[in-house]
Formats: sequence, C-alpha cells, structure tokens
Amino acid sequence: MGASALILAAGEGTRMRSRLPKVAHEILGVPLVRYVVEAARGGGCDPVVVVTGHGAEVVEPLLEDVTTVRQERQLGTGHAVQCAEAAFAGADGSLVVLSGDSPLITADTVRALVAARESSGAAAAVLTAVLEDPAGYGRIVRDESGGLSRIVEEKDASDEERAIREVNTGFYCFDARVLFEHVHKLDNANAQGEFYLTDVLELLRREDLPVVAMAAADPLETLGINTRVQLAEAAKVMQRRINRAHMLAGVTMTDPDLVWIGPRVTLARDVTLEPMTFLLGETTVSEGCAIGPDTRIVDSVVGPDAVVDSSIVTGSCVCEGARIGPRAYLRPGTVVRPGAKVGTSVEIKNSIVGERSKVPHLSYIGDAEIGVGVNVGAGTITCNYDGRSKHRTVIEDGAFIGSDTMLVAPVRIGAGAVTGAGSAITRDVPADALAVERSEQRVIDGWAKRRREQSDDE
Ligand code: UD1
Ligand code: CA
Repeated sequence: MGASALILAAGEGTRMRSRLPKVAHEILGVPLVRYVVEAARGGGCDPVVVVTGHGAEVVEPLLEDVTTVRQERQLGTGHAVQCAEAAFAGADGSLVVLSGDSPLITADTVRALVAARESSGAAAAVLTAVLEDPAGYGRIVRDESGGLSRIVEEKDASDEERAIREVNTGFYCFDARVLFEHVHKLDNANAQGEFYLTDVLELLRREDLPVVAMAAADPLETLGINTRVQLAEAAKVMQRRINRAHMLAGVTMTDPDLVWIGPRVTLARDVTLEPMTFLLGETTVSEGCAIGPDTRIVDSVVGPDAVVDSSIVTGSCVCEGARIGPRAYLRPGTVVRPGAKVGTSVEIKNSIVGERSKVPHLSYIGDAEIGVGVNVGAGTITCNYDGRSKHRTVIEDGAFIGSDTMLVAPVRIGAGAVTGAGSAITRDVPADALAVERSEQRVIDGWAKRRREQSDDE
C-alpha cells in the first residue's frame, strides 16, 4: 500500500513579521507549502492532506487540489496531527509528516524516509541532520546503545542536551495506525505549553516500539524557514538546484547566479539565458532560444529559435523564430506568430501579430489582429479604449501602416492598404487603398531666413 502524507501548515510564523502567513511566502513565484505538496506527491504519497489554521483564508486557495483540515487554535504540532485524524480514517501503512515551512525537501528523501521505516519494520522513522549550529531545533537524544530515545525541544533542553548537534528536521514517517493510537495521549506539560508531536516518539519507545533515525543525505534539504533571512537562503539553494538541473540538461547560462527559474518552467536544449533573466510560472521555452539579459517571462510559451532581449512577456505566446525587444512589453493574450518582430519599446496586449509582420518601434497595440507580412510604422497606436469600452483593430495581410498612425478602434485596414504617416484613422480602409488624414502642408518661401535676419537686427 502506498504512503499518505500530512503537511503541517497552521502556524503563524511570527518571526517572519508579515501580514502573510508563513507558508504563503514565495520562492521563485511559488508558495512555500506548494513545494512540500509537490515533494510529497513526487515521493509517491496519496492522499496528501494539509493542516491549515493561521491565515487559512489565504493558504487554502493555494491548495485547491489537496484535502485541507482546519486546526482552529494552534496548540502544537501534536495537536495539528490530532486535528487531521478524520482525514486518514482507516489508513494503514505509512504516513509521512512534513513541515509546510521546509520547501527544500525532495521527493527522493520522502521515498527514502518511507523505505527506512518500512524496511526496518519500525513504528516511526525520523529524518535527522547534524548541524554546525543546531539553535532552534529539537535535539535527538540517543540511548546507551545509540538508538533514538527521545527528542527534546530547545526550550526544554538541559545545557548538556543543547550541546547535541543532531537535530530533528521535522520530517517523519509513521505507521499511521500506531500514530493515531498515541497522538491523543500527549500532554502539554512543557516550556511552551504545546502538544508536541515529537513526544509521540518517546511514548513509542516506552512501549518498546522501534523508532529509527535516518540521517538526511543533504542537510540543506531540511532547512526550515522561520525568518526572511532563511527565506532568502532557501531561495538561493532552490535557485542553484533548479539551474544546475537545467544546465545539465543542455541550457547555457552565462551567469547562473543571475538567472531565476521557477519550478514549473520547462526548458529545451540549447536555450541560452543571459544575466537578470526571470522565467516564472507555467512557462515553456523551446530549443535554440536566446533569452535576456534583463528579461522576465511569466506564464508564457516561447517557440524554437526565438529571441527575447531585455523585455517583459506575460501570459503570451512567442512563436518560432520571432524576435522580441529590446524593451518590449507583451501583456496577456498576445501571440507573436512565426518570424514576426516586436521591437524597441513596444507594448502589446491581447493581440495577434501575424507571421513575418513587424512592429519595430515605439508602438502600443491592444485588442488587435495583425495579418501576415504587415509593417506597422514607428509610433503607431491602436486607440482601443474610448473611456468606456475596448474595441478591436484589424489589419489585414500585407498592409503598411505609416509611422505615427492613430488607429481609432473599431477599425479595419484592408489587405495591402497603406495609411499615411501621422494619420488618425477613424473609418475602415478598403483593400489596396491609401488613407491619409492630415492637413495640407503649407510652405512659406523665405520665412526662416527673414526671422534670422530680424533677430540679428535686435
Ligand atoms: C518543530 C519540532 C522540532 C524540529 C523543528 C524542525 C515539535 C514540537 N518540534 O519545532 O523538534 O526541530 O520543527 O523545523 O514538533 N504547526 C501547526 N500547528 C501548530 C504548530 C505548528 O500546523 O499548532 C506547523 C507549523 O506551521 C510549521 C510546523 O508545524 O509548518 C512546525 O512548527 P514550528 O512551530 O515551526 O515548530 P518548531 O518550533 O520549529
Ligand atoms: Ca519551524
């Protein structure tokens, strides 16, 4: 039978000094608790249940795909497990308990912890780590034969116990039935007046039920986040871990310390990432793309061999061989079709730029559909908003939009049509026509010369 998982995430996280509950804080755009959920799932756990409490109205919407259980008052980690019992009614076999504030745990370690308990037939396995500085953690107290005897919280520890550097990481695998038989026997006679989950281990040992300690292969995985300093440290570890995996899979990073990639991003081979590149959310980048420097791409798809330079791309699709930037801003709903170009200081929203079309300089394009092989001159703006509602602009294949054209939507420019530079186009333009809207140019001979001579006389 597969393992189930329980993630404790009801605590406030006072030391974060934040309006936001601790587990909702993010690393690389993903809330801490989500990393733990994914590690549990990746480690084969099903179901995954999360205990929420403090800030539940913020935390639960992050967990729509898992079962959540409320712990209304946070009376300790043992009490949190008590609150979750109903969610595991009749559960048999392994139950992994994880901390929602420890996002660096990996699926491999979850699996190893389950295997450590199951292969030894122990009632519980505890993941431990030996730390240079164990401050703040519960200490692992071993008996004469080296077996785990109990865990003592720092606030309850003697000086001698405080000197122990082997700590409880807060990750466990229990025999589910045994856990729920014992978790109700806890008391809160300790320095913090809390029901400690750690005390279950001592109860088990007193009944001679075996408990094993498994040392973490990489103590960094067990880093619990209590402060914003630790949040930044964990983010650094995650950044390195993710970047390393991508580089080993064929991605070039000129300086991996200056590249940030979220955990849900997919990158193909031969992608090059320049410094100050952020790839976040559900983003996919295909083979041969060059991204950055100074680029942020969120929830977007980038096709093969595209170039995105010094730009922001959100909720958009950049197709094969398209070129974006420098300093373009693609907002949600934008599709840049194959071979198209969106150039310097161009903003595009909810629009399609057709195959091989170009919007090279200083434009705003909103709610527009641009056909194939269109040239949109510098400074062209779609006036899509009349102060009340948004209107569409359609530019058909092969049209040529003169520089500084105002396209007052709704408006349609027919295939092959041309607009004169500086025109405010308010009516549809038929195919192959020229539309010019500007006053006749006046030329006054000698005017400039006369002005010069006037000022010389003064
Ligand atoms: C806990 C362990 C400690 C271990 C450390 C590792 C206990 C008693 N102590 O201490 O041995 O070294 O983790 O990080 O378990 N939570 C709830 N409900 C509560 C209290 C806590 O859901 O009533 C959650 C928190 O949100 C957090 C996790 O449990 O995700 C750990 O709680 P925390 O208060 O941080 O425990 P520590 O004091 O760090
Ligand atoms: Ca903690």
